[in-house]
Amino acid sequence: MTKQKTFMHNTQQHYAQLAETFDQLWQFSPDYEPWMVEQIQTHLALQPHEHWVDFGAGTGRFSQAIHRYAQPASTLCVEPDAAMCAIAQQKTELMSLQACDQTFVEQPLRYDALLVKEVIHHLSDRLSFWRGVKPQLNPNGRILLITRPQETTLALFEQAKARFAQHQPSIDLLCRELQTAGFDTQVSIIDFPLRQTKSHWYTMLRAKFMSDLVGFSEDEIEAGIIEVDKHYPGEWITHADRLLFVVATNKKQL
Ligand SMILES: C[S@@+](CC[C@H](N)C(=O)[O-])C[C@H]1O[C@@H](n2cnc3c(N)ncnc32)[C@H](O)[C@@H]1O
Repeated sequence: MTKQKTFMHNTQQHYAQLAETFDQLWQFSPDYEPWMVEQIQTHLALQPHEHWVDFGAGTGRFSQAIHRYAQPASTLCVEPDAAMCAIAQQKTELMSLQACDQTFVEQPLRYDALLVKEVIHHLSDRLSFWRGVKPQLNPNGRILLITRPQETTLALFEQAKARFAQHQPSIDLLCRELQTAGFDTQVSIIDFPLRQTKSHWYTMLRAKFMSDLVGFSEDEIEAGIIEVDKHYPGEWITHADRLLFVVATNKKQL
């Protein structure tokens, strides 16, 4: 297997294994989810008559929260992992579709907005994906891509930061690809400040909550925790989740 294929295989296994506990593991702080939902609605501006898609929706946790907050006409969760998708299907106010990027763009769908949150680094051919999305999106449609910069502000150990950067496309490249596929882009960089107890953050690291941590052994994670610990005297880890919000809309005809 090539390095890229091995990474993708490990990623799929990671999500299948974590499905049941995924929402508990990804808990930065109690105010993170409502903040994120508000940010998404600010950028996506979903209207009551609109139909939208949460692509790579995982368990549908954010899809449901946004559906309740913005009250659009419909919400479709798209997720390739069967176990994750089964959890999304239990949220009966949402629709769901088990599909990956390649099978999603083959669907005869029309929608007004597309959310691609913390997924883009998993796609092997992003340009084909955006080109496939283009005819599905209504003329006034919007895409909201949420991702992180290559240099993460999360309190990871050096090797984990390096692996994160290696798997994360640069923001310039992401915007160029969207533009090549026929979209205008606008980028906002927004920090969510985090203050977590060490025991909370280390539990997340030990559970390998991020797919980039999957390749590390238990011993490497423990060594990484010792490394992180040296940077934070006392009981707290004070860091930030720096996020990139990219809004893409159909290119204006001049
Ligand atoms: C970090 S999780 C994000 C889940 C959700 N968007 C959220 O923000 O809570 C990444 C998700 O992308 C999905 N995924 C991985 N590869 C994918 C692909 N090729 N097409 C669509 N989704 C994919 C995973 O199964 C997982 O549910």
